Amino acid sequence: MDILVIGGGGREHAVIKTLKKSAKCGKIYCLPGNGGIARDAECHPVKATDIAGIVEFAKTHAVDFAVVTPDDPLCLGCVDALEELGIPCFGPRANAAIIEGSKVFSKDLMQKYGIPTAASRTFTDPMSAISYLKASEYPTVIKADGLALGKGAVIVNSFEEAEQTVKEMMVDKIFGESGSRILVEEFLTGPEVSVLSFTDGNVVVPMVSSMDHKRALDGDEGLNTGGMGTIAPNPYYTEEIANRCMEEIFLPTVKAMNAEGRTFKGCLYFGLMLTPKGPKVIEYNCRFGDPETQVVLPLLESDLLEIMIAVQNGSLTADMVRFSDASACCVVLASSGYPKKYQTGFEIALAETKEGEDIFIAGAKKEGEKLLTAGGRVLGAITTAKNLRDAIGRAYALADQIQFENAYMRRDIGARALKVLGEE
Ligand code: AMP
Ligand code: GLY
Repeated sequence: MDILVIGGGGREHAVIKTLKKSAKCGKIYCLPGNGGIARDAECHPVKATDIAGIVEFAKTHAVDFAVVTPDDPLCLGCVDALEELGIPCFGPRANAAIIEGSKVFSKDLMQKYGIPTAASRTFTDPMSAISYLKASEYPTVIKADGLALGKGAVIVNSFEEAEQTVKEMMVDKIFGESGSRILVEEFLTGPEVSVLSFTDGNVVVPMVSSMDHKRALDGDEGLNTGGMGTIAPNPYYTEEIANRCMEEIFLPTVKAMNAEGRTFKGCLYFGLMLTPKGPKVIEYNCRFGDPETQVVLPLLESDLLEIMIAVQNGSLTADMVRFSDASACCVVLASSGYPKKYQTGFEIALAETKEGEDIFIAGAKKEGEKLLTAGGRVLGAITTAKNLRDAIGRAYALADQIQFENAYMRRDIGARALKVLGEE
């Protein structure tokens, strides 16, 4: 089968390398891909948001199956457009991708169907939001309704900060139309867990849990980033909690989407907080997480392409999805200065990888035979091992062998997880 993958980050590199293990996998095309992905797939410079360009490409290259991973094309109806051509796709249609595309939609869904989440109020004009915030308790959380590159949630500690944030989102429109509606949400506390799941709209099969490290600096300090590293499984996510999440969150969400006439097929991502009052949904994503995918897929023992086909044609069963009981760690190497200003264009010297090690490229371009940095997050060094401590040690050993000018990484990926396990 010839496969078209849409996207161009570390997550897509992980998806492509995992698909290549399948006996059914033929040629892989990636739009737009990146300089590193080009080693594993045929990349073409069509933007992931250029739906007409993607459709044209799929037609002329007669692909058999498409995998759409980023949020923008999913919310723009990329799957709908490809399906109209008769190309089966892994990924939700636009009417289901809204579960990520609109936080007001997902909050209303959870409230209507009794799915545990933070209490919240929606506002469409800044004055009523501000007067509500005058009487609020702090900290509280302000969220832009639409997609905002993962930066649309702001924790504010005072009325002054809240007023400023409302102004930025609703008046200055720093996130464009995404900020025309906002949510003011109860501040929750507790460890965070990412659970990616496969669902065909009927059966939901969770993947191994993971833990992201969103802040730029060690000790969870500094600015929010797209993710500086991940580990799997997440030690906070016990079997008891997993069972509870299945009953209270995963199944009710899939059923709620069906009841709304918005059947979700693809990877449904549950961003959870394990609060003192039980697990609650912080966010849904309509896609694989990045960089969660980079630790989850290396632990998958079954055939990803077969699972994706079953998700698409509605024949998914739990026994099709098997994970190893090993652990994985991904350390992201970024350009120093990320997520603010940073320089790019430096040559990357990669390292040899052994069994249980991999390098997924996120922001790099090819120049002749050279690979040059081209983004904030440049790549992830990933390893699997029988336990988390070894996975972390090996991931850092691999990361330390990779070189480019300006490279920056956090030094404490997985440290908190080890503490929970009593293995520090
Ligand atoms: P989101 O964009 O909704 O994923 O939020 C980004 C991050 O903000 C989350 O990973 C949490 O760390 C934090 N956050 C979001 N909502 C809340 C909340 N209600 N209470 C506490 N922290 C939150
Ligand atoms: N790692 C969080 C996300 O993919 O949104």
